Amino acid sequence: MNIVEKLLNERNLPDDELKNLLETDFYDKELFEKADFVRKKYYSNKVFVRGLIEFSNYCKNNCFYCGIRAQNSKVNRYRLTKDEILKCCENGYGLGFRTFVLQSGEDPFFTDKIMVEIIKEIREKYVDCAITLSVGEKSVNTYKKFREAGANRFLLRHETANEEHYAKLHPPEMSLENRKNCLFELKKLGFQVGSGFMVGSPFQTTENLIEDLRFLQKLQPSMIGIGPFISHKDTPFSAKKSGTVALTLRLVAILRLFFPKSLIPATTALGTIAPDGRERGLCAGANVLMPNLSPVKVRKEYLLYDNKICTGEEAAECKFCLERRVKNAGYEIVIDKGDAIN
Ligand code: SAM
Ligand code: FES
Repeated sequence: MNIVEKLLNERNLPDDELKNLLETDFYDKELFEKADFVRKKYYSNKVFVRGLIEFSNYCKNNCFYCGIRAQNSKVNRYRLTKDEILKCCENGYGLGFRTFVLQSGEDPFFTDKIMVEIIKEIREKYVDCAITLSVGEKSVNTYKKFREAGANRFLLRHETANEEHYAKLHPPEMSLENRKNCLFELKKLGFQVGSGFMVGSPFQTTENLIEDLRFLQKLQPSMIGIGPFISHKDTPFSAKKSGTVALTLRLVAILRLFFPKSLIPATTALGTIAPDGRERGLCAGANVLMPNLSPVKVRKEYLLYDNKICTGEEAAECKFCLERRVKNAGYEIVIDKGDAIN
């Protein structure tokens, strides 16, 4: 039995074999085939879509890699109003979206009270939809209020599970311990939790990636989002090399075999470093896409990294473009909330 078969059967591998798998392209073909076999076993050829609403690009934090970090004075900052957010949902619902993802920088303007009002109103209007939040690290009390207001899911990438590596990507006031705690607390509150990391982030080693997988095994999230790190010209990491398509796809496939029932997006970042990146992500085991529902007028201001795709198209255009791409890759977008099956 080779290591891909072993991973398929045991849903796990020891560190040395995992290192081997991560560092060579020798197993790629078989790895992608097995990952696709497993995704089809649980999800057939279905692809779930989530409508992403980037409602504020203000952020109080200063992650070294992120284009909307507080110290980037070149960003034109914006906030969507509650009515604008609701308009995005209305538009998205009409296009067949049954999950709305509200994402922003860590923006103190959006107090608990304001967020709760927004969540409640979406919940009342769209009873059949999932509300996903991606608004960063908050207190347990705040998360509880969001949950009670009707939010069901929360995306918070752990970014890296290694303390030393975390400290190279973030300023000292941010801590991996807090980020991990947030994830476990969110789970306790009954959120379907999504975590993940960037592939090829500066200073990342294979050992770091193995730690990421071990952390995910502990957390057992419903969703796992990974995408290549892509440098942004106005950040301290402007001169750092971006992550590669090859390693990102390999990791998508490995994640599918480690976590057969999980929801794994083919991310916009993957589509940014290769024109067919998202389709290749689907063929390597991904089963989710997160097209943008934000108003076109603000799209170009939510730039986490350089050359981000889909910043000029209306939501409807993105949806039709994706539908065509997904079909050509042999899969099918479905109108479904797309809950985790585990
Ligand atoms: N503020 C929230 C948070 O921290 O979870 C949500 C927004 S944050 C910008 C969303 C994700 O973008 C981060 O978790 C990070 O992994 C990703 N990201 C930021 N900068 C990036 C870059 N330069 N390349 C690729 N992904 C990046
Ligand atoms: Fe905003 Fe990292 S820069 S959370």
